[in-house]
Amino acid sequence: MPYPKRLIEVDLPIKRISLQAKREKDMRRCHVPLIHIWPATRPPAACRAVICASLWPDPVDENCSKEFINGLKEIFTNLISNNIGIFSEESYRFAIKIQKNFKLIEKPEIQRELLLNIIADFSNYDNSTSVEFLKIVREITSLATLSLYGEEVPTLSDPFAGGGAIPLEGLRIGANSFATDLNPISFLINKLVIEYLPEFKESIVPWVDGYWREIKKRVQKEIGGLYENPNKKETIVSFIWARTINCEGPNCGVEIPLLRSNLVAKKGERSIAIKIITNGHGKKLKYDLIRGKEALKHTKGTIIRSKVTCPACGLTHSPDTMKRQLTLKNGGACDSKMLIVVSISKEDRGRSYRLATEKDLIFYQKSKTYFEEHKELLKYIPQNTLHIMSGVFNAPIYGHSKWSDLFNYRQLVFLSATIKHLIEIKKEIKKSHKGKEYEAIITTISLLFDKLLDMNSALCVWQSHAEIPAHVFGRWALPMIWDYAETNPFAGSSGSFESTFKRTSDGLIYLIKGKYKPGTVSRQTATDSLLADDSVDIFITDPPYYNAIPYADISDFFYNWQRFILNDVFPDSFSLDESPKQEEICEMVGWDSIRYPEKDKMFFEREMTKAFSEGRRILKPNGIGVVVFAHKETSSWEAILKAIIDSNLMITASWPLDTEMQSRLRAKNSAALASSVHLVCRPRENEDGSLIKNKIGDWRDVQEELPKRIHEWMPRLATEGIVGADAIFACLGPALEIFSRYTKVVQAGSEREIPLREYLEKVWAAVSQEALNMVFSGGEAKSLEEDARLTAMWLWTLNAGSSENGNGSNEDDEDEEQESSGGGKNSGYTLDYDNARMLAQGLGANLEDLKSLIEVKGDKARLLPVQERTTKLFGVSGIQNQPIKKKKKTQLSLTFENVEPEEESKFEMPELKVEQTGKTVLDRLHQAMLLFSTGRTEALKRFLVEDGAGNDDRFWKLAQSLTALYPKDTDERRWVEAVQTYKKSLGF
Ligand SMILES: C[S@@+](CC[C@H](N)C(=O)[O-])C[C@H]1O[C@@H](n2cnc3c(N)ncnc32)[C@H](O)[C@@H]1O
Ligand SMILES: [Zn+2]
Repeated sequence: MPYPKRLIEVDLPIKRISLQAKREKDMRRCHVPLIHIWPATRPPAACRAVICASLWPDPVDENCSKEFINGLKEIFTNLISNNIGIFSEESYRFAIKIQKNFKLIEKPEIQRELLLNIIADFSNYDNSTSVEFLKIVREITSLATLSLYGEEVPTLSDPFAGGGAIPLEGLRIGANSFATDLNPISFLINKLVIEYLPEFKESIVPWVDGYWREIKKRVQKEIGGLYENPNKKETIVSFIWARTINCEGPNCGVEIPLLRSNLVAKKGERSIAIKIITNGHGKKLKYDLIRGKEALKHTKGTIIRSKVTCPACGLTHSPDTMKRQLTLKNGGACDSKMLIVVSISKEDRGRSYRLATEKDLIFYQKSKTYFEEHKELLKYIPQNTLHIMSGVFNAPIYGHSKWSDLFNYRQLVFLSATIKHLIEIKKEIKKSHKGKEYEAIITTISLLFDKLLDMNSALCVWQSHAEIPAHVFGRWALPMIWDYAETNPFAGSSGSFESTFKRTSDGLIYLIKGKYKPGTVSRQTATDSLLADDSVDIFITDPPYYNAIPYADISDFFYNWQRFILNDVFPDSFSLDESPKQEEICEMVGWDSIRYPEKDKMFFEREMTKAFSEGRRILKPNGIGVVVFAHKETSSWEAILKAIIDSNLMITASWPLDTEMQSRLRAKNSAALASSVHLVCRPRENEDGSLIKNKIGDWRDVQEELPKRIHEWMPRLATEGIVGADAIFACLGPALEIFSRYTKVVQAGSEREIPLREYLEKVWAAVSQEALNMVFSGGEAKSLEEDARLTAMWLWTLNAGSSENGNGSNEDDEDEEQESSGGGKNSGYTLDYDNARMLAQGLGANLEDLKSLIEVKGDKARLLPVQERTTKLFGVSGIQNQPIKKKKKTQLSLTFENVEPEEESKFEMPELKVEQTGKTVLDRLHQAMLLFSTGRTEALKRFLVEDGAGNDDRFWKLAQSLTALYPKDTDERRWVEAVQTYKKSLGF
């Protein structure tokens, strides 16, 4: 390569960066999301690091210019002489060595280390606004750009800018960022943070503050009465409502509130629960409150897994019955039952709870008729259809057929009145602020309005632990919510005018501290860039992850209202009835095949290829591209990798950065991993920008190089804590470095072109082999049969040993609709069929031949839990014998190092002889685990000693390996650990 490699092509301190990315997420102070939420925003820490490492050349590279190396000498000498205190402990230790011997600074290896240390330190949130850090980072950046391109300011393009994390961090580092996204809401967020904020700086906050207060004043004057409190002493902050159905039991018909839990406040001594009082069939339900610790026992509500039980007659209603009734009421938000009124004490801001009264209801009822007297508000209520999207938008299944059905009457009055006043005030703003200044204020106010929306919907859950309502988009979905919390927007608490402003202004003030120059924002499809050929230095982007999030559909929640405010400010973006969807690059057919029949894998591949081809076109021949991607399905990876290769980009490096961002996205069915892989690419171009053609690779050479590359890479990943599926996908980058070097790879002789899919199968095989060698040391893997190898790799892939991933239960689901669970302790370990097939293939196994171990259903494959293998291992009656009442305590268990067999206490197991020891080591180990699990210690002992299962070394080695691989807190883990303790006590 005639160009020097960039640091990102050589090394990256991924562990340190990942740590900072996680920290930033945990702090929940990531600035842009404070201003406006956007799905799957990149952690700024990771963006900063990746941008620096893409812009800065590697001093060790022979093509790195002297100008850069000499410039670094100067910067580092100055830094280490005068400012060493800004370093973290780790970097400081390194810098001190140099301070003792300044000559070291001249060594390119030392310079590389220093640059990597600066990158790691700068990823720290606390340093992101530090004047010293910004100065150094900007100095290095302009030195690098000068040495590479003869210019001082590098240009960065992100065509899938979303919430703007990448372009914003680019500006912070001193680049000129171009932020583009198709979506109007993303466009707004970017306009504010990329263009207006750096231009108007501190002024924006007081400008907006004044107008926002004025809007509140006017709205409160008009409709504040709807929130009036019959008990003047308290300030109401929230109302807790439950949707209802009528009991269909014979002679009953009572109105049943749908409550996922009766617990309202989970606060130790101050806990509160709703008590439902019933006087039998057909008698109206009454309510009371249970206070104190006693309340904590009342967590069970009236609805569990979509089945509703009548407290009066006990009849359980099917999900269909409930669905039918709610559908007749458009989801039932407007006809819910107001149960609790939550107030705040003026002294200690603690919450107090009381039952809602008829008087409270009277104020609410006024909002029902309000529209009749104020018809002008109706035009601000979105009438667009809300479509069901399988597994993502479930609220419409229950009759929310329009977007406006997601709000109750009072919320609709409040939101439409706010829009009305906002539009009126717009005229006044225009008189005092012209051009961009006006746009900046309106944009900020409209984003503030979105915050009100997100907290004032009938999809806001009441959080009993935090005692505040949650916002709608806790996940990027519209799940059905049975009981919800309505906010009093004038009370100053969560979801009010004041609290929305507070969060936004905190975010703005933080950003202003970074003192960066404005960039450029446009709303544009990534497949058609406005930028000129060979005009940008880095193209860093985080495109949609195949079918992970339907951005445009989600954004309609906001867009539907925003268009009333912004259609004359940004007519190009806000004149449509809904957000633009046609050009959005997402696989959508799985969610909604009626609206998106054409958006399949082919569409995704084709459009992504166009987008990346644009990326390559605008990138300088020696520019760097970085594509971020995460997905747990191989076919999605295949789609993105094919798009990269087909757009004539070659992958030169790849780095997984552990962001944890996706781990809770749409719970257990989420299509995401814990870390995102950063695929580094370069244009496959000549120096003049023309494409390199006919660089043909030999399939034999490629296959030969692949395992070597994986062998080098996997241990590095393991030391960075990246294992399991994350490691597999993180290997795709290095693997593709080999494949994407060529315009095509062909089989010598036949000239057959090797398709990417075929190569990916080889990659899986190479990764599985490598991982297997890491799990079983010293050639043990070869001595084990395929069922053991596959079981180990299956568990390793799920990374089950170190997380709760295996059985996929997720507390978050408690809050939401739960139509089917499928989870549970012993449901086995599921992989996508395609991944499972490739895994097996790579280990020389065939899923078809392993039916007693693996169950395939549709596109999923399940490794059966040991218990489900009982019949296969012991025959139909075998171990199923009923336990018999114990006569006297046996002494035996004491000899086994205090290992208490399960179910040992009250029962004694009938004598059992293992008729046939399992054929494979895994079968025998599972037999031993099952004997232990049913308390048959005698039989287990005989099995190990007399039947000889324990005489096989492989038995114990496999047990040891599986101990580390079975997830913590599972039966399997306990049993296999227990079996291992017999090794010593029985003298093996
Ligand atoms: C993963 S998100 C980007 C998130 C962003 N990196 C951040 O940190 O907030 C992907 C983005 O691609 C956008 N998008 C989808 N199709 C597009 C297209 N054809 N052109 C431009 N943007 C598109 C979506 O609107 C979404 O904002
Ligand atoms: Zn009933």
